[in-house]
Amino acid sequence: MGISKPLHTISCISFLVLYFSFYCITPTSSSSASLQNEFISCVKTNTHVDFPLETTLFAPAKNVSMFNQVLESTAQNLRFLAKSMPKPGFIFRPIHESQVQASIICSKKLGIHFRVRSGGHDFEAMSFVSRIETPFILIDFSKLRQIDVDIEDNSTWVQAGATLGELYYRIAEKSKIHGFPAGLCTSVGIGGYMTGGGYGSLMRKYGLAGDNVLDVKMVDANGKLLNRTSMGEDLFWALRGGGGASFGIVLAWNIKLVPVPETLTMFTVTKTPKQDPGMKIISKWQRMASKVMEELHIRVEFTAVGNKGNRTVMMSYKGQFLGEKVTLMKVMNKVFPELGLTDQDCTEMSWIESALRNGGFANGSSIDVLLQLQSPLGKNYFKAKSDFVKEPISPLGIKGMFKRLIKEDTPFLNWTPYGGMMARIPESEIPFPHRNGILFQILYQTNWPENDKRPSRHINWIRELYSYMAPYVSSNPRQAYVNYRDLDLGQNMNNAKVNSIEAKTWGAKYFKDNYNRLVKIKTKVDPENFFRYEQSIPPMV
Ligand SMILES: Cc1cc2nc3c(=O)[nH]c(=O)nc-3n(C[C@H](O)[C@H](O)[C@H](O)COP(=O)(O)OP(=O)(O)OC[C@H]3O[C@@H](n4cnc5c(N)ncnc54)[C@H](O)[C@@H]3O)c2cc1C
Ligand SMILES: *[C@@H]1O[C@H](CO)[C@@H](O)[C@H](O)[C@H]1NC(C)=O
Ligand SMILES: *[C@@H]1O[C@H](CO)[C@@H](O)[C@H](O)[C@H]1NC(C)=O
Ligand SMILES: *[C@@H]1O[C@H](CO)[C@@H](O)[C@H](O)[C@H]1NC(C)=O
Ligand SMILES: *[C@@H]1O[C@H](CO)[C@@H](O)[C@H](O)[C@H]1NC(C)=O
Ligand SMILES: *[C@@H]1O[C@H](CO)[C@@H](O)[C@H](O)[C@H]1NC(C)=O
Repeated sequence: MGISKPLHTISCISFLVLYFSFYCITPTSSSSASLQNEFISCVKTNTHVDFPLETTLFAPAKNVSMFNQVLESTAQNLRFLAKSMPKPGFIFRPIHESQVQASIICSKKLGIHFRVRSGGHDFEAMSFVSRIETPFILIDFSKLRQIDVDIEDNSTWVQAGATLGELYYRIAEKSKIHGFPAGLCTSVGIGGYMTGGGYGSLMRKYGLAGDNVLDVKMVDANGKLLNRTSMGEDLFWALRGGGGASFGIVLAWNIKLVPVPETLTMFTVTKTPKQDPGMKIISKWQRMASKVMEELHIRVEFTAVGNKGNRTVMMSYKGQFLGEKVTLMKVMNKVFPELGLTDQDCTEMSWIESALRNGGFANGSSIDVLLQLQSPLGKNYFKAKSDFVKEPISPLGIKGMFKRLIKEDTPFLNWTPYGGMMARIPESEIPFPHRNGILFQILYQTNWPENDKRPSRHINWIRELYSYMAPYVSSNPRQAYVNYRDLDLGQNMNNAKVNSIEAKTWGAKYFKDNYNRLVKIKTKVDPENFFRYEQSIPPMV
């Protein structure tokens, strides 16, 4: 999916008229150096806080190993660091919010296309790779990660560059009974996570992260600093789930903390298909997981283990209960006795320890590991997709899924239950529309090693699985999670051709009817489509 020449030319003509001769005909390092210099001197005149270039500006011509190091630092999907992938002309890493604002003003003035990266976990790497226009630059948020927890007010201001792990740590530092309903993987960035809604193991009780936002600080397409009051409720609505980088660049979020008990209980129970004859357990899970009390969250992870002769699927039921073990055992015996949960499977712990466990850290790790910017789950070469399920999948349907899972080297599926608070929040409350009627969400993923000779084999595998699953999942539209970006669903080809009607094919999957409102808001706040990428919300033409 490299950049084809015609697209390149079109985008240059439309947006880089000023630089057309420099960058489209002779993209030499001296011309990119001059663009860089203009950018930096422009930023300097638009910020009141000085910044040393050694630690804020990274360019291949300056120091290629340093440039690569910064580019790679938070890139989660290693596929997109390949030599064949387009690279930013340079990376700017602001150390003060005013420099982000200045970057927007200067990019607009100089006609520079840019990408914004917070945690770098985008599945399709749209935060640091542009497939639709070059040259582009990268604005990296990794030095903007301040977190101010206000326990008395039950709220926190968190800058976009912070990770979920850091946020959890800073909350736990001040209170054992406050938490935030966010994701499992601790290296995910707040910046991207919040803009897609953001789910996690507290969602059945408290909804999404995006359902728990109080205020936001943002830079708009004119370089103006806005908060909730000054931007108005429409734009504030769009930011909480409409996908990153379509409406503005978020500097920080003000979030509402939620109460968590001092003691939670976690468990893991694994079953092979042999240990689940007649698929009684997995069938019961599908019926009960979204219906039980909202303090209980049980997800199921599917992997494949063993060699050719004895290869089998492994189902891990991973539970988190907002309460003590004795209560959990009573509940489970009543609502899900088929699983055979025992006392020994359960561990009581604090909310912050549950965050460590969910994040994949070893049992007994010190909570300081949450400040490590790397997750123990590591980085991967991967392709992933998502689905939403509204009716239990039949044993026959699951059997076909198992058959496919054992054919792949490193398959991974995660089934996450909905219901509870998720079902009570109306579909139009924020752009994230997957609410009442959803039993569970599916994440499909396949990983492969660096030296794999045929990555396309894995991509084809996941596409075939996705097509196999069609009869068992939501349809018209087949719903998808915007934070699980998937370019197979379609993309904006280039700015000249961006068409809000065409984009509706993938827009409706991510947002259902909310897509139309997102387009209206985009048209109002960014009619020139200054903020754009492969799956940005297009304005009406
Ligand atoms: C290992 C892994 C685990 C995950 N676990 C979960 C989970 O438990 N729950 C869940 O809901 N999701 C999960 N996700 C998905 C995750 O929420 C998205 O990938 C999210 O977009 C990542 O945010 P980021 O800041 O790390 O990504 P980035 O790649 O930095 O950004 C993602 C998108 O947001 C834009 N963006 C980044 N910063 C800003 C900003 N400051 N202002 C405006 N736009 C911005 C980017 O340009 C890009 O389009 C997971 C992803 C991975 C790879
Ligand atoms: C380039 O960056 C590397 C770090 O990646 C550093 O070790 C090296 O000294 C730098 N070289 C120069 C010439 O600054
Ligand atoms: C903070 O939350 C607690 C517990 O939910 C509540 O009792 C208290 O009134 C809240 N404080 C504020 C200022 O909202
Ligand atoms: C929001 O911005 C307005 C105008 O800049 C300002 O008066 C107001 O105090 C800000 N609100 C908050 C909560 O910061
Ligand atoms: C079956 O798979 C396990 C790994 O899950 C392996 O340790 C074992 O050796 C395998 N047995 C045979 C007979 O292949
Ligand atoms: C932690 O302990 C539980 C059992 O108490 C076990 O199921 C789990 O696999 C362990 N996790 C790690 C990462 O060691």
